[in-house]
Amino acid sequence: MTTQPDAPRICMVGSCNIDLIARVPRLPGPGETLIGTRFQMGFGGKGANQAVMAARLGAKVSVVAKVGRDIFGQDTLKNFEKEGIDTTYFMFDDERFSGVAPISVDEVTGQNSIIIVPGANDGLSPADVRNAAPAIQGAQLVICQLEVPVETTLEAFRVAKEAGVTTILNPAPAAPLPDELLALTDVCAPNEVEAEMLTGVKTDSTEGAEQAARALQARGPKTIVVTLGARGALVVEGDSPAEFVAAEKVQAVDSTGAGDSFVGSLAYALAAGRSLGDAVRMSCAIATRSVLKPGTQTSFPYREEVMGIVG
Ligand code: RIB
Repeated sequence: MTTQPDAPRICMVGSCNIDLIARVPRLPGPGETLIGTRFQMGFGGKGANQAVMAARLGAKVSVVAKVGRDIFGQDTLKNFEKEGIDTTYFMFDDERFSGVAPISVDEVTGQNSIIIVPGANDGLSPADVRNAAPAIQGAQLVICQLEVPVETTLEAFRVAKEAGVTTILNPAPAAPLPDELLALTDVCAPNEVEAEMLTGVKTDSTEGAEQAARALQARGPKTIVVTLGARGALVVEGDSPAEFVAAEKVQAVDSTGAGDSFVGSLAYALAAGRSLGDAVRMSCAIATRSVLKPGTQTSFPYREEVMGIVG
């Protein structure tokens, strides 16, 4: 897809993995060997997924990321190029292998369990980010997750805020967050499990999710968007009352990457100047579409397929 000259500009600083996905009759227990029914290998990594989703909607996306000097790394580069993503600051690590993620998907419920072996993602350093500062400074919005070292994410947000660039943090997988990182975050978008792990507040009800969001908000970000899986999302902005956005009920085939589809869409919509409520409604609808197909990036729609949602 050709991006328009006035397309929203987004920089993703974060992870790339190759997903090794097995469909299984149910998720395995400890010590159990299960026979899977299907195997799929594809491009993944929360950062890469979010970058690809935003690019498919029409954003001009650049990535600051690191892979190994192996076939997975080469293929990841080709995939970004195919998606029209700027790879000026896509780097290769001479010692580490590319990140991989063995994933089991329950073929009945579409739910998954994911293991991440970060490999070269761990080699993305604050110095790499400083070197890539022009990509961040030239964007309207930067998105980060927690699959690269937290000091690297922190450096990305320092560069972004010095340049007046909006920051979105998807704190996944959940990990202790330095106060400075949250202070530099404009929009924090955890899922309900991450919100609970970060705050200690139970998020199994909408009220609980709001309490967790308010606890995160007290640490810095003005805006919190908690994704609630099949239920939808909860939006907390400043002192305004929380808004619950319900997702359409569908029969999920594979939920892998749905959260990334949401965050990539949210980044696109906010950089395009949409209101927060509108951006979250659009992102929920697109993420819902993504659970209807198997795989990670393979399930993300292109702009042409969601014109009714994007408008
Ligand atoms: O959110 C899904 C992603 O998590 C997968 O693509 C996997 O690589 C892990 O990063």
